[in-house]
Amino acid sequence: MQNFEYCTPTRLIFGKGVVEKLPAVMAPLGKKVLLTYGGGSIKKIGLYQKVLELLKNFEVVELPGIQPNPKYDPSVLDGVRLCKEHKIDVILSVGGGSVLDCSKAIAAGACYDGDPWDLISYKVKAKAALPIVDILTLAATGSEFDAGGVISRTETNDKIGYIDPLLYPVASFLDPTYTFTVSKKQTAAGVADAMNHVMEQYFVEDATLLNDGFCESMLRSLMVNGRKCIENPEDYTARAEMMLCCTYGCNRILSLGNSQSGWPCHGIEHALSAYYDITHGEGLAIITPRWMKHILSERTLDRFVKYGVNVFGIDPSRDKWEIARKAIDMTYDFFKSIGIPMTLREVGIDESRLDEMAHHIAVNEGLDEAYVPLDEKGIKDILVASL
Ligand code: NZQ
Ligand code: ZN
Repeated sequence: MQNFEYCTPTRLIFGKGVVEKLPAVMAPLGKKVLLTYGGGSIKKIGLYQKVLELLKNFEVVELPGIQPNPKYDPSVLDGVRLCKEHKIDVILSVGGGSVLDCSKAIAAGACYDGDPWDLISYKVKAKAALPIVDILTLAATGSEFDAGGVISRTETNDKIGYIDPLLYPVASFLDPTYTFTVSKKQTAAGVADAMNHVMEQYFVEDATLLNDGFCESMLRSLMVNGRKCIENPEDYTARAEMMLCCTYGCNRILSLGNSQSGWPCHGIEHALSAYYDITHGEGLAIITPRWMKHILSERTLDRFVKYGVNVFGIDPSRDKWEIARKAIDMTYDFFKSIGIPMTLREVGIDESRLDEMAHHIAVNEGLDEAYVPLDEKGIKDILVASL
């Protein structure tokens, strides 16, 4: 087992109606609040009005319009400017992972005198960040329980995972009823994203039995409950379990003591959504089975056998290669069965920029150190197989 240090300081406040505790949680953090949100879904579900009511004794400044795959310009820059102008004490993010990720970058940028990109691009280490509280409305990324945010910069086709322990939310409100209105498309993308977070931690050289059990159980739960959420969007029990699975997905708890994988599918997908602004979870679902096929070898075979037997219930007495290949096919079939477009062409990506993207990924994502190292040619092969 590998050495590790671990601390997740975020307070999770989970369940129906928990938002009533918002004023009490916010009060010690200050009076001046930057309320961040996306394109309007929080207004449609009545949450915006509810939050303003709960914050009637606070001074609230708003940053609306944060887009999926949140953009440095304008959202991060506008948020930092508002925090400085209004001397904001605390950020309240209400929405999905994109709103929260953007809020994290704003929180750090607000406490820095230079260009916030210096922090996101790791040129400068942040010394401080504003506290963040979030109310999550979409289960997927795990941003509510981790220290990362992913920010896109359109003009350079960069999509960077910015991670710093300063960025852990102080508290995350997780009320599954707010996710009832998430579309089938976004629900399926959320399932695929969370499943891939687990896989990125499962397919490693050195793993504990304990972590393998967590991961396998999470994958099974995500498949069962994800399908239920799509079939019946107001199934509270399914939405709740899916939400909790997603929350666990990205904060390292599933890989403590394991060796690292390098998160190859994320490295590849971030370029797809940087270049084409596609939905993150859909990009991952498309890449994952092709990446699996690419890395299947004598060396990785036993890992795939374990995955096939414990996650999909494939008969362990069958030939190992047969089990591994069937497990990969079942991964593909599951994503397809929940309505995810399973080719790059279906999400608007053709061959024209594959070379450029493969080069960008090889230079920027460090996948030469992944569980199975990927060079530019390997990355391109996975992209071509995904067309
Ligand atoms: O903008 P609004 O109107 O709010 O609509 C959003 C958006 O269009 C909508 N939505 C959210 N809650 C809803 C709802 N619609 C109806 N009812 C609700 N309750 O859903 C759309 C997608 O929202 P978004 O926040 O983009 O989705 P998600 O939570 O999947 O976040 C994706 C982003 O997170 C990054 C991804 O790369 C992507 O940029 N990731 C962040 C990670 C992290 N911080 O740890 C890890 C992940 O691997 C991922 O990379
Ligand atoms: Zn992800």
